[in-house]
Amino acid sequence: MTATALPLEANIQAAAPIRTWRLDDHHPDTGPRQTMVLAATHDRLPQVIYWGAPLPDDAPLETLAAAHAIDVTGGMLDENPDLSLCPEASRSFPGQPGLILRDHGGAPLLPKFHYVDADDSDGLTLTYADHAAGLTLQFLFAPDPSTRIITAKTMLTANNPVHLHWLAAPVLPAPQQSAEMIDVSGRWCGEFQLNRTAWSPGIRYRENRTGRTGHEHFPGLIIPCFGATNTQGEAYGFHYGWSGGHRMIAEELPDGRRQIQWGHASRMETKPGTRFESATLYATYSGYGLNGCAVAFQRHVRDRIVTWPKPSALRPVHYNCWEAVYFDHKIPVLQDIATRAAKLGAERFVLDDGWFGQRDDDTRSLSDWEVDPRKYPEGLHPLIDHVHDLGMSFGIWFEPEMINPDSDIHRAHPDWALGSEDQTLGRQQKALNMGLPEVRDFIYDRMAAILSRHEVDYIKWDHNRVLPMPDADQTRGSYALIDRLRADFPRVEIESCASGGGRIDFGILKRTQRVWLSDSNDALERLRIQHDAALFLPMAVTGSHVGPRRCHTSGRILDISFRAWVAAQRHMGFEMDPRELDDHEAVVLTEVTAWWKHNRQWLTLADIHRLDSPDPAILAEQHQHRDGARFVVFAGKATTSTQIAPRPLRLTALEPDTTYRIDLINRGTAPALSRGRPVLKDQPIEVSGTYLMHHGVTLPWTYPETMWVIEGTRL
Ligand code: GLA
Repeated sequence: MTATALPLEANIQAAAPIRTWRLDDHHPDTGPRQTMVLAATHDRLPQVIYWGAPLPDDAPLETLAAAHAIDVTGGMLDENPDLSLCPEASRSFPGQPGLILRDHGGAPLLPKFHYVDADDSDGLTLTYADHAAGLTLQFLFAPDPSTRIITAKTMLTANNPVHLHWLAAPVLPAPQQSAEMIDVSGRWCGEFQLNRTAWSPGIRYRENRTGRTGHEHFPGLIIPCFGATNTQGEAYGFHYGWSGGHRMIAEELPDGRRQIQWGHASRMETKPGTRFESATLYATYSGYGLNGCAVAFQRHVRDRIVTWPKPSALRPVHYNCWEAVYFDHKIPVLQDIATRAAKLGAERFVLDDGWFGQRDDDTRSLSDWEVDPRKYPEGLHPLIDHVHDLGMSFGIWFEPEMINPDSDIHRAHPDWALGSEDQTLGRQQKALNMGLPEVRDFIYDRMAAILSRHEVDYIKWDHNRVLPMPDADQTRGSYALIDRLRADFPRVEIESCASGGGRIDFGILKRTQRVWLSDSNDALERLRIQHDAALFLPMAVTGSHVGPRRCHTSGRILDISFRAWVAAQRHMGFEMDPRELDDHEAVVLTEVTAWWKHNRQWLTLADIHRLDSPDPAILAEQHQHRDGARFVVFAGKATTSTQIAPRPLRLTALEPDTTYRIDLINRGTAPALSRGRPVLKDQPIEVSGTYLMHHGVTLPWTYPETMWVIEGTRL
């Protein structure tokens, strides 16, 4: 059948005037990886009409806008409301609106925004207003060509104070070519659990009302298109950079369109105001699997988000004394531990909880940030001097936002605590009200006193309980305190900890340089947690410590080699009592640490590609130098395989026609039950990228809870 159509451009002109904008992450060497096109009809809010693989430079954007429109049939409105950057309830949008607010008196406001201005001199800023309601809405977009992340933010200003219930960061469409979404939940000692949820009409709604980023709801989402895996296919990645708890809506509308909304948890603004903004939304499109999203996030965190006090300094090997001594601080013991840790290769000693107030257990003294004279009669100096004499730097633990009812400060200022007097405590503690300037000043003074009287280059900054209620002022207060301390003590690095990974997000990472990913130092659990966290986090910020022989949180006993290699996959450290190590364990740990130090310069900058292991028992990743000249593959065997012999492990992101030298560097640990002679057991091989990516590496048989480490070099 043929149809005579009007020339398309004529049709479009006869229809409504259209405004269009395009964003490309154009890199001078590698070109663009994604294009996003926005279009607006009349002077309405724009919608994203295309987001994906780069379009030709001369793509006809008006035609694309017209071609994007879906049909109207029975049971629909006469025109489909736009899935705009902020879907408006006032335009009969058939899903969740992007903005919910009330006027000062509490009456709902249903604004309709109209075009005011567009500025594409630096990224893209679009300004819209509802003059009658006295509201202005702005959308800011900035594509980053070298990391492939598009940042986006929404800002609302009001002529008169309004109550904000919900403000979404720019609302983006989700692909139709997708059966499911992957979001992230977790728990104490079990962070970064990936959930796959099938798309269906209605909402996948996740809201974190705990007032901190939380173990339970990491603010990240990956939407794989049909058939996508770690290494191939298309995927979209999202992260909302805010530490106060967020809301995510992934909604399929009755007409089949899909929208993704991110914002602060609803009703988190407790006071009427005239200016609000979302946190930054980080989004990316990948044409090479989930890894395209992962590498974009990793690079963006490392190169754009984190500010490094000494950018060229190598990441030091940590020693943290928590699991060795807990609250039982004795200077000679700590000095002995420090000496042993230094001998193993540690370069920074972190004094954990227990050094202040009367902190003999976790029931008291939080906020009494003064050195405990019973444990440290001459102050911290004898310990710090000892640590420095060993050539290590010194770090110290604080939990600044917290207060125990049993503390001098609570007795003096009970009103500084957040929440009601009869609230349920968390770890016997309350949170301080960080919205109060006097509280922030007090904590600042106490922390500054410690930092200025001692040579401290690192803070482990903890946050061990959820808040009694979500409150954006609390998060802004925490940010302000950290910012002030960083401004005054710029050489001090900060690690974000919250009972392990309870405060990990790009908002806190703007102010910190490391995350304590989990309180689980069980290498088997850690292998999985850090592998899944690599969808968002680079090696440079992800702490990973060699724990005790018998793990304190799981009771599991793991071999030193496995524990050491798992820690060596990330920012390495030790947390066991070094006095428990036998000679063999000390030798293995020293060797693996030396390997890590030898390679850390490039590994810290490397991209972590998660491999598609054909054997679910194997969790494998390829850490690849930016220039592709070298890589290391960690193939962790989490459990016993179903089949007898290891299945070949395919590598990724190599040049097909190039030859690589592949060497199994810890072949000496093959157990006696590995009786055959797979070639890597005896010697390196030289094979093409094509072979490695299509057949894969055949490894020797080994026990569960072990790690093969393979070095690759481009020849
Ligand atoms: C939290 C942290 C631990 C440790 C303790 C100290 O649980 O996650 O690593 O610092 O606090 O009390």
